[in-house]
Parts: sequence; structure tokens; C-alpha cells
Amino acid sequence: MVSGESFSRIEGELACEEVPLKHIAERYGTPCYVYSAAAITQRFQRYKEALAGLSHRICYSVKANSNLSILKLLAAEGAGFDIVSGGELYRVMAAGGDPASVVFSGVGKTEDEIRFALERSIHSFNCESVPELETISRLASMMGKQASVALRINPDVNAVTHPYISTGLREHKFGIDIKSAPGVYDVASRLPGLRVEGVSCHIGSQIVDIGPLLEAADRAIELVRNLRSSGIDIRYLDLGGGLGVAYRSGEHSADPSSLVTSIKRKLDGLDLTLMLEPGRSIVAEAGVLLVRVLLVKTNGAKKFVIVDGALNDLIRPALYQAYHEIEPVAIQREAEEAVDVVGPVCETGDFFARGREMQPVQAGDLLAIRTAGAYGFVLSSNYNSRPRPPELLVSGKTVSVARARETYADLIRGEGSCA
Ligand code: LLP
Repeated sequence: MVSGESFSRIEGELACEEVPLKHIAERYGTPCYVYSAAAITQRFQRYKEALAGLSHRICYSVKANSNLSILKLLAAEGAGFDIVSGGELYRVMAAGGDPASVVFSGVGKTEDEIRFALERSIHSFNCESVPELETISRLASMMGKQASVALRINPDVNAVTHPYISTGLREHKFGIDIKSAPGVYDVASRLPGLRVEGVSCHIGSQIVDIGPLLEAADRAIELVRNLRSSGIDIRYLDLGGGLGVAYRSGEHSADPSSLVTSIKRKLDGLDLTLMLEPGRSIVAEAGVLLVRVLLVKTNGAKKFVIVDGALNDLIRPALYQAYHEIEPVAIQREAEEAVDVVGPVCETGDFFARGREMQPVQAGDLLAIRTAGAYGFVLSSNYNSRPRPPELLVSGKTVSVARARETYADLIRGEGSCA
């Protein structure tokens, strides 16, 4: 099964934990995101178990799914957080997360965001340029503080993933070229408002072969040794996120424990705290986008299944040619035909699947678009003035509204009156 044990069939009908998706659709309408709390905590615990015995911090990457209920769930499990904006820090705090467990990543942080993070005394900043280091040092000094920083290095390793989500090559905007890193560390270590304590890197996302991650780790560790020998006391190594998940049935998700086991060996005797920033591998498989078939239409030789969800709700197929399994919620029948599953938005790119073999479906049927818990709702928009869908969190038999469906009034909030 693609999305793990938390979505299974009860008497033939697809359910999330103990709640049939049909009941959720009846009660809350479609389209809607449905998340399994157990799936999220289980995936976080896999990281925790793998890291046991090693000084570590697992900073969930908030960008993957920033819903407060999910952040709360993870904070209760002891997660730290990887953020890329002031807004994400605000969310972490609103969810009761501890700012001291937050690492602030990103290639361009505003002065307001840096001040906000300094005021809240976050754990550290992952910095990607000299101008940014200078700004953080200046602002921290003005506030009578010293900021803990890591430099995000670009190890020049090919992550073998979709080009839009690969970040570890020299041609990418991310990080500091590993060759110039020692010089930049030297500059950073002289800035009065900084404590230079970490090395960080993140080479991309949806990485299923862990080889490139281990190669990046080797390069980062070599840099740690060099820096220490030149007197810069590196305390932590942040290897970012990136572990991939199974989007197609038959595929396997990358296993955090095999990654961690190999890294643990490399860290032997080094007295370093290992930090990781997983996003997708915690939440992707824990979510579906539930949609209803509006109608089935034939154009020439092609058959289109038009559903009530669209690219504004889940943009991954349009943006990354991403594949998501689509399962009818009712009992699956054998007969298959090739269809395009599309939404109502006025864009040819508004599709969830093209030429997909599916059992025949008809108006009113429910479809679950699987593995949609990461980079789903967070990338949604109001395009075509479509209110964004609700997010529902299932725990056992209980469904809670993690975010309400937007209303038409929500669509025009902030736009004033036309009078
Ligand atoms: N740390 C940093 C610095 C990152 O840039 C990212 C993701 C992560 C951690 C988390 O990576 P993960 O464990 O989720 O792979 N929207 C795209 C994915 C963009 C990833 C951006 N950075 C998608 O839908 O595939």
C-alpha cells in the first residue's frame, strides 16, 4: 500500500484510521484534506528510534505542512522545527513549539524576520551568504545578543530528483560553495554578534537513493574536521531533510534508519550533535486529498473525469509532473480504462493524472488522491476565486477540523468595500 497502514479498506471502503472517508465527505464536504495523526507520529518516531543514543535534534521542516494541529502533534513528540520565514516561526509558537528548538533556514531573510527570531531566542540560523552573516551579526549586536549560526554549504552533490527540488549543485542558488566555505567561516568567526557553531547542508527533496545524502555528509564532516583544526569549534552538523516517499504503489519510501545508521558510523568519536530537517517523510503519506467526481466527459477519443478539486488545492502534478495514486473510495472493481483526472480550473495544466488506468467512475463517486500530506495544502491558493479546502485530522475514531473550509467572505477579506 502506498501510504502505509493508516489508510486501509474497511468492508471495501477506504478509511483513514477508523473513519470511512465517505463519512468525512458527507460531514465536511469535498474537496478536503484528510490527515492521519497516527501516521504522522509513527513516522516521527521512526526518526527518534533511529537516532536514539546519539546527541541529536529532529527539526520538522514546517514548510511541508504547517497546520497548527500537526505542529502541536509533533511538538508533543519532542520535535524541533526548521523554518524559512517569520510566519513559520509565528505558527510554531502558536502551536506551543519551543523557539529554542527552531533553526531558521533560507537564502533570503528580511531584517524584520531576523529581529523577530532573535527576540524569541531561536536555536540557530542557517546562513547562506556573507551579507546575511553581517546583517545577523549587526542586528544581534544591537540587541545585545550573540546568534548561533551554521553555514549552509553547497557540497556539489547531485541529489537525483526533480530539477525543481534539487539544491546541492554549484549551479543552484542555495548554500555556500564548499570550496569557499573555510574563507567564509573565517569571516563569520570574526563577526562580534555571531557564535559560529554549525555546518549545515540540504541537497534536495524526494531523494530515494541515500547515496548522495551520504556523500554530502562525508563532505560536510571533512569540513567540520578542517574547521576544528583551524580553531573554529563546530558543535553541530545539520544534514537537512530530503528523504523521499513512495508515490506509486510498488515503490518503497527511503528508510530513515538506514540513513541514520550510516551517518552514526561516520560521526563516531566526533562529539557532534546531529540535526535533521525532515518534512515530506513525516507527513506526505499521512494525508490524502479527497475529491468528488462532478461528471465524466468524452472529447474525441479521450475520457475526462472532472472532479471538484483542482490545481489550486494540490499543485504538485502541474508544477513537478508529480505522480499521485488516485483510488476510488468505494470498493475497487477490476475493469480499467485510461482517463485524465482533471479539475474545473481554466488551465490545461489543471490535472491530477493523465492517461491513468482506473476502474470506471461516475458522477458522485469519491476519489482519494494519495500521499498528499506534504506540499499539498501549503502550496494551495485561491486561484479562480476558489475557497481553499478544509484540513481534517483523524485520530482513531475522532475527526477534528484542523482548518475550516474557507468561505466566500474569506476570499475578499482585506480587499475593502467597493463603495
Ligand atoms: N530543509 C531545507 C533547507 C529545505 O529546503 C527543505 C525543503 C527541507 C529541509 C525539507 O525537505 P523534505 O524532507 O521535505 O524533502 N514543493 C516541493 C518540495 C520542495 C522542498 C523544498 N525544501 C514538492 O512538492 O515536491
